Amino acid sequence: MSYAGAVAARCLWLPRTGAPRPLSAYGRRISARFWSSGMTLDNINWAAVDRIIRVDHAGEYGANRIYAGQMAVLGRTSIGPAIQKMWDQEKDHLKKFNELMVAFRVRPTVLMPFWNVVGFALGAGTALLGKEGAMACTVAVEESIAHHYNNQIRRLMEEDPAKYEELLQVIRKFRDEELEHHDIGLEHGAELAPGYTVLKSVIQAGCSVAIYLSERF
Ligand SMILES: [Fe+2]
Ligand SMILES: [Fe+2]
Repeated sequence: MSYAGAVAARCLWLPRTGAPRPLSAYGRRISARFWSSGMTLDNINWAAVDRIIRVDHAGEYGANRIYAGQMAVLGRTSIGPAIQKMWDQEKDHLKKFNELMVAFRVRPTVLMPFWNVVGFALGAGTALLGKEGAMACTVAVEESIAHHYNNQIRRLMEEDPAKYEELLQVIRKFRDEELEHHDIGLEHGAELAPGYTVLKSVIQAGCSVAIYLSERF
């Protein structure tokens, strides 16, 4: 089974409407259950899940735009296939969070049009520095995203690992793939990019701001 198929079969969450249930922090009269386990999530921390799904959706969308920008510049060069492979995984990540947004009635961040432009500009801009520039961008962004996913995993583990088991599986899998992207960036000469340390710091500061804003707006 393909990766996307496996994830969809294993992790698909479905909304369930029906008799009124306790209102969430956002006033939703729905509960949700995991398709695979049948576990009903009546008492989940909606405020936390809302934030997690919104910011992760925004992050995966931004990652897709970054790789689109890199491919626009470097798609026909020797590094093209490596970028395309990472982009394909980001498409699967985004697809999963699109499904979760529908299932959990989570609205996207209002900043999506902004991330559309900023993500593409970041990908294309660093790619214009050369292959190493693009890879430096990949290392910086993927390290930030993996760190962000680790924070979410810690938060959900502290809250209730059993209740959030399948969301944890999704985040852990994606975290591992972001770390693979990070390593691919290093293997392809990220550290040889001009001004690597400064570039990485600036991009990661931007990622922190993007995460903060996308969680809240
Ligand atoms: Fe991703
Ligand atoms: Fe990634």
